[in-house]
Amino acid sequence: GFVVHAARSGLRVDVPAGKSVAQALLEAGIDVPLSCEQGVCGTCLTRVLEGVPEHRDVFLTPEERAANDRMLLCCSRAHSPLLRLDI
Ligand code: FES
Repeated sequence: GFVVHAARSGLRVDVPAGKSVAQALLEAGIDVPLSCEQGVCGTCLTRVLEGVPEHRDVFLTPEERAANDRMLLCCSRAHSPLLRLDI
């Protein structure tokens, strides 16, 4: 697992294996815009302020993936122990 720091509320949320970032944030009371929940539509696209996402979506282009400054919260995870997100 890894930790997500939701910058707007200051909350830190654990994301265990088997739970998505979006699920973990929703359970912590943070509103996450969701639609497809399959990494396709881009609704849950969120800016990454710190940390390295592990992209598991099919929405971002290879260039956008490589930039590592945005991620899809419904399906993507983290390579780093902490992600700080603009949410
Ligand atoms: Fe569609 Fe995340 S909800 S890409």
